[in-house]
Amino acid sequence: MSLNKILDSVSEDLSQVEEAILQCVQTDIPLLTHIAEYILAAGGKRLRPALVLLSAKLFDYNDQKTIKAAQVVEYLHTATLLHDDVVDKADMRRSQKAARSIWGNEASVLVGDYLFSMVFQMLTQLKNLEVLEVMSHTTTLMAKGELLQLTRPYTSVNEEDYIEIIISKTACLFASALKIGAVLAQAPRSEQQQLYDYGMAIGLAFQVVDDALDYMKEESQTGKSIGIDLKERKITLPLIHLLKEASPKDKSRLDGILSEKIINNGHVQEVVQMMENYGSTKYSIQVARNYANDAQNCLLHLPTSPIRQMLTDIANFIVIRHS
Ligand code: IPE
Ligand code: IPE
Ligand code: MG
Ligand code: MG
Repeated sequence: MSLNKILDSVSEDLSQVEEAILQCVQTDIPLLTHIAEYILAAGGKRLRPALVLLSAKLFDYNDQKTIKAAQVVEYLHTATLLHDDVVDKADMRRSQKAARSIWGNEASVLVGDYLFSMVFQMLTQLKNLEVLEVMSHTTTLMAKGELLQLTRPYTSVNEEDYIEIIISKTACLFASALKIGAVLAQAPRSEQQQLYDYGMAIGLAFQVVDDALDYMKEESQTGKSIGIDLKERKITLPLIHLLKEASPKDKSRLDGILSEKIINNGHVQEVVQMMENYGSTKYSIQVARNYANDAQNCLLHLPTSPIRQMLTDIANFIVIRHS
């Protein structure tokens, strides 16, 4: 099922979030407004804000605060994308040129910082200390995750390290999106925790699939540059699998590619072929499937409802998505 179809019953709330997202970046600094509008209006799945809304709705909570919390989560996500494309030297984002390719790295970083500051300004307006705590913890963890990724030498990363990194850089934001929806709705503690755990598990599945797509799909399908993880020597699950499974001959070729000064598209194609031969992307998708199943199990103690079903469908969507 497509994400739009899954989210159909919250589409009105999502439109409100959408409007707020674009409206609040109108400033008296044209460069700032242009860049923020450019990346925000380019779409994106809006999965994280949808999760905030769904989590609150699960407890029949409908309030402007949820819209604001959803907006905050998308701003935080967008800020990390602006920064991430600089770190990864990416040229494409959301099916268009990355902001850094048009306005440069400096402007991209500064607009990311601005969105990041808005996140905290808006969080204080929510006047909910627990939401503020959850989000402060998350932003700190996300920054740590990016730093861990940057500083771990690629020769030493194993599956366990990889999971540690993606919990921080990606999954904790999914977990927090669900948690803050439930906190605003004043849901029972145990149910807040179940949703947090569900979010963590779909977040893991989400990043694992993202890392597989980097070796599987064309730019035109994902809307972002492909093969970038290899070019940046980012050790993700498909590559960890390949490094482990490759024959001595293939392993030595792979090591050769990884120590090239510049890893080019030809190298990427070679590695994609090896991954095909050893089932490395297939393995990664299976790992993601397992996390999605874990996520679905976290929902079992929540009362059955159409919203719970949507969360189940989102876990499935994450595994089969192409962008
Ligand atoms: C991209 O996230 C960053 C990752 C965590 C892999 P999304 O794939 O959700 O990006 P948009 O918002 O839909 O563009
Ligand atoms: C996601 O990792 C990092 C963030 C949380 C922003 P990636 O570097 O794999 O994300 P994409 O592939 O550029 O979207
Ligand atoms: Mg990236
Ligand atoms: Mg990626």
